[in-house]
Amino acid sequence: MIGSTIARLAVAHGAEVTILDAMLPLYGGNPFNLEGIQDKIVFVKGDIRDLDLMKRLVDGADYIFNLAAQVSYVDSNSKPLLDLDINCRGHLNLLQACSHINRKARIVFTSSRFVYGTIEYNPVDEKHPFNCLSIYGIHKLTAEKYYRFYHDAHGLPTVSLRIANPYGPRQQMKHSKYGIVNWFIRLALEGQPLTVYGDGAQKRDYIYVEDVAEAALCAALTQGTEGQVYNLGSGTGTPFRDMVKLVAELLPGTVIKQVEWPADRYFVETGDYISNISRLTQATGWVPKTSLRDGIAKTIDYYRQYRDKYW
Ligand SMILES: NC(=O)c1ccc[n+]([C@@H]2O[C@H](COP(=O)([O-])OP(=O)(O)OC[C@H]3O[C@@H](n4cnc5c(N)ncnc54)[C@H](O)[C@@H]3O)[C@@H](O)[C@H]2O)c1
Repeated sequence: MIGSTIARLAVAHGAEVTILDAMLPLYGGNPFNLEGIQDKIVFVKGDIRDLDLMKRLVDGADYIFNLAAQVSYVDSNSKPLLDLDINCRGHLNLLQACSHINRKARIVFTSSRFVYGTIEYNPVDEKHPFNCLSIYGIHKLTAEKYYRFYHDAHGLPTVSLRIANPYGPRQQMKHSKYGIVNWFIRLALEGQPLTVYGDGAQKRDYIYVEDVAEAALCAALTQGTEGQVYNLGSGTGTPFRDMVKLVAELLPGTVIKQVEWPADRYFVETGDYISNISRLTQATGWVPKTSLRDGIAKTIDYYRQYRDKYW
């Protein structure tokens, strides 16, 4: 989702783009995400865990966006070694390749709000303690440290972005383990009810994917971001139930059901999360542009047209 959106934006700006994806089953890789730009990019099917391939691909690159990941925190807890392999070893491979072949490429790594885990205060700034509640959060934090280490020790210009709750076109919709906004849009498009746990008052920071892509480009292009880590969100907290109501309003006839919190979900509930994005805005001038209503409406339009490509 996010990688193809960055690629589309970069192509629109006239960049020469190479896309690497392992196209692992049930992950987000989808050839249709490149619809319309196929003949303007080079696509390589390959794995970031392949050091030789990484060495070949980083050679000569000016900018590298490393988004490759096992993205589900649920799966990270049931398959911790797989998560370690992709979300840590894979990133070390890329960094090693760059330190041997290309120390100039500016590298953006997409981390996650999950490094913070249980939230102690809002809005959350980058100094918030790390109370990880998932293996995914622990490995994202570890990878951030790798990126920082290769900046400090090898001079690589790396920057990490802790993304809040992204949603929008081009996310995989085959299963529910990715972003909840997209999943609820699928359910509503299929005429299924949307289930809210408890009172749904927990706040989330939903960020439209095109805003994420613009922020990633700004972080890559702006001098002074090297070695830094920034929160990337909308900066606004929306109660979960309000997001659900918006989906239901935009897809009339959608039924909202309320149930008790299941015990296994309650454990991983972080509490309210709102990003403090002032450091990123000050450093790069980036600000999010898309309201939640507009973003959900655009996402619904996209999947109305192309749902057969996504589930
Ligand atoms: N979606 C979210 O809720 C969210 C939130 C915060 C951060 N992020 C991060 O943003 C990045 C992009 O996520 P996304 O939402 O676009 O998910 P996505 O699944 O659409 O994109 C990740 C891509 O990485 C590819 N991939 C996985 N392992 C690979 C490997 N070993 N080698 C090469 N390619 C591999 C997958 O095939 C997939 O296309 C990830 O790093 C993710 O952790 C996502």
